[in-house]
Amino acid sequence: MEHILVAVAWPYANGPLHLGHIAGAYLPPDIFARYHRAKGNRVLMVSGSDSHGTPITIRAEQEGVTPAEVVDRYHLQFLDCWEKLGISFDLFTTTSTPNHARVSQDIFLTLLEKGYIYKNSVPQQFCPNCQRYLPDRYVEGTCPLCGSPGARGDQCDSCGKPLNSTELGNPRCRICDTTPLIRESEHFFLRLSAFQEPLRKWIEAQQHWRPNVLNFSLRYLDEGLRDRAITRDINWGVPVPVEGYEDKRLYVWFEAVIGYLSASIEWASGDEARWRPFWSGDARVYNFIGKDNIPFHTLIWPAMLMGYGGLNLPYDVPANEFLNIQGRQLSTSRNWAVWLPDYLETYDPDPLRYYLSANMPESGDTDFSWQQFYSRNNDELVATYGNLVHRVLTFVHRHYSGEVPQPGTIDAEGQALLDKAAATLDTVDRALAECHFREGLRAAMALAQEGNRYLESRAPWKSVATDRE
Ligand code: MF3
Ligand code: ZN
Repeated sequence: MEHILVAVAWPYANGPLHLGHIAGAYLPPDIFARYHRAKGNRVLMVSGSDSHGTPITIRAEQEGVTPAEVVDRYHLQFLDCWEKLGISFDLFTTTSTPNHARVSQDIFLTLLEKGYIYKNSVPQQFCPNCQRYLPDRYVEGTCPLCGSPGARGDQCDSCGKPLNSTELGNPRCRICDTTPLIRESEHFFLRLSAFQEPLRKWIEAQQHWRPNVLNFSLRYLDEGLRDRAITRDINWGVPVPVEGYEDKRLYVWFEAVIGYLSASIEWASGDEARWRPFWSGDARVYNFIGKDNIPFHTLIWPAMLMGYGGLNLPYDVPANEFLNIQGRQLSTSRNWAVWLPDYLETYDPDPLRYYLSANMPESGDTDFSWQQFYSRNNDELVATYGNLVHRVLTFVHRHYSGEVPQPGTIDAEGQALLDKAAATLDTVDRALAECHFREGLRAAMALAQEGNRYLESRAPWKSVATDRE
């Protein structure tokens, strides 16, 4: 029996979930967790609402409500969605809990003590018009790495690289469009540069990772890891456990990834004998995320874990690519998305789960269209799989009072089908274990097709009259 930690990306509680989230980061881990539970393994599947950072405060300011109100609203909505869609979390908590603050502060202080975190005075953007420091997402400008305009201060959506907002070209305050001034402010830095070589050695050994995840991480390392500020001039978030930092908070990305650990501890009610087996020895940690989160999970969080010590690094980070909507890139700001609460108001969960599984963006972006949603469900799930199940069940009920009869002599054709079924089970098993969900589903559907062909050629509904055996 294995211990499998299914650690799922924490969605920002600043807006409703859409199908991109589900195809990217939430359906795959649910399939994976159900698979391992069915195999009799110990599974812990955790995540929660990412409650902090500028994604939340910007939304709260736009709406004129408190950040806590925004978080509460969407956290409840997320819980409702998981229940309706059947996403089987063992715990879906939030980063606002006292437990999470305690665990995050413990990791911070341990890294500080070990010299992996240090203080530095840094130039910060300050908006003279708004009279405030501008943390990451409050600044927009040109990406210093790929030159794309409209990069946010924390990350460039074009090249996917994390940024420091002071590196942006032509920076502007997102609230009022003023060019920010530079002022010195003291912050804590994570000494990522110290992990350059250990990370490279570790990543080069992860040959089972998806090529996009492996290559992105190696390219990123090639550019050289730079130390990153892990505190912010903001008043919403986990307090920095050091005197004189009352007006600052831990950077949201620094503490959010710690959520995997703090949620495991919360799930175990603090009982180390229960949570530690998921984080040590042969236990495997899987981080299910969208591709925009790759560097945080293959570099920054592993560096934090290496520095902290005693906990397993991720075994696999099966990041998915993006789901486009009817040929256009999904965009929440342009309201080009299919929102999950809307979907669930009209449809059952399984047609969506089927279509997204068959069309999962595992190795490249894929496209969602309503036309395909209908046709793949009607032509595949209903016509192939459903038809097989329905035929077999009605036949057994009509002619054998609902009990599977002992088979008579099995001829070559029948044996070939049985062999194919056994081989398919192996294929599906391996595919799911390796997080190749499309491949697993494809193999299962191919077997259903064989089953239909067999029934078609044998027509037992005719022969049953003369040859019940
Ligand atoms: N909230 C982030 C996002 O939506 C993901 C955080 S994953 C975590 O992109 F590991 F940091 F929690
Ligand atoms: Zn401003």
